Amino acid sequence: MKVSNYIIMDTKILQITNDVQWIGALDKDIRVFDIVMETKYGTTYNSYFINADKKAVVDVVKEQFFPVFEAKLRQVCQPEEIAYIFVSHTEPDHSGGLKRLLKIAPNATIVASNSAIMNLKEQLNMQFRYITANDGFVTDLGNKKVTTLSAPNLHWPDTVFNYLQEDKVLFTCDAFGAHFCHEAMYDDQVGSYGEAFQYYFDVILKPFSKFFLNAIEKISHLQIDAICTGHGPLLRETSMKIIEKTKYLCEEYLKNYPEKNRILIAFVSAYGYTKTIAEKLKEGAEKVPGIAVDFCDIETMDSATLGEKIAKANAYLLGSPTINQNMLPQLYHLFALMTPLRDRGKLAAAFGAYGWSGEAKQNLVSNISNLKLNCYPESMFVKFIPSEIEEEAIVKFGESFANEMKA
Ligand code: FEO
Repeated sequence: MKVSNYIIMDTKILQITNDVQWIGALDKDIRVFDIVMETKYGTTYNSYFINADKKAVVDVVKEQFFPVFEAKLRQVCQPEEIAYIFVSHTEPDHSGGLKRLLKIAPNATIVASNSAIMNLKEQLNMQFRYITANDGFVTDLGNKKVTTLSAPNLHWPDTVFNYLQEDKVLFTCDAFGAHFCHEAMYDDQVGSYGEAFQYYFDVILKPFSKFFLNAIEKISHLQIDAICTGHGPLLRETSMKIIEKTKYLCEEYLKNYPEKNRILIAFVSAYGYTKTIAEKLKEGAEKVPGIAVDFCDIETMDSATLGEKIAKANAYLLGSPTINQNMLPQLYHLFALMTPLRDRGKLAAAFGAYGWSGEAKQNLVSNISNLKLNCYPESMFVKFIPSEIEEEAIVKFGESFANEMKA
């Protein structure tokens, strides 16, 4: 396993309260997260130690950073002493090191949501002790108590927050976080990271704004001195400001997205024939009063821009030629950025030009259906170059599609 010098030098432990310490890992060099997300400022995998009568850890780290985490953990306790491990959610950038932690902390009981426990059974592939923590469940650490608050879909269904009452510390994992790596870690020492915060919110959490507002409402009565996130700075000075900012961003998003009569025409085109179809669809759609069309060749479009366009539109016309009996990878990328929780039910149709067997049609239609979009009953595919008669039919198709969306 490749371990950079930077990782070896990551030995810092940070005090959050007298009894809460950050024992996470810095990942300064990562530039792409989850395959599709740019991380130009690196990231951190935040893990925390609670020094109570019964010792506890909140979240672990990505598996490859376990040696860094373990070295820090051994500085603050004997791993055998750990009584509880709180798992906020089971994405492996946080749970990846859990199996190795359980091997050195054999007395630990995992506390997590029911769906997280189900996932962990498949991730750990071993027997482990666990408690299923429903909303409001209290774990007694002796001289301290941790309340688990259900916060589903932030951004996975299994997500919970954990609140350490005596220290007024809220552990939120991905929520309120950012992919931003700065050795100082404290929000009042890392300088401005607003761009990274906004980007993280836009890509990871914005589609779940409705759920985020529910979670913010749930924590509104809590006294919070610090928010301990799963990535990026530790919020000891700006926790309230970040909650307010997030609330505002969620409300703005829900107010403005999607735009009621906006169609996204997204396509790639090898020789310009699929583009011709896209142009004629646009012409037809724009015949319908009040329709706005976002016309996009997505060949080189980045994830954030495309994700924003997908969120904003209320209907999709999606086009690809067929090459090697398949649709083009940019369309796979587009579907990967869709969120069934948010986009389900939006009207969508497929189009494209093809030369031989035209498999892109089936690829597009099946993705539209799988993502629970409202699949328009017809598609618009043309062999090679649309004739004048076909162009007229395409314009009519675009007009009918727009009328259906408005209905
Ligand atoms: Fe940072 Fe959803 O994991």
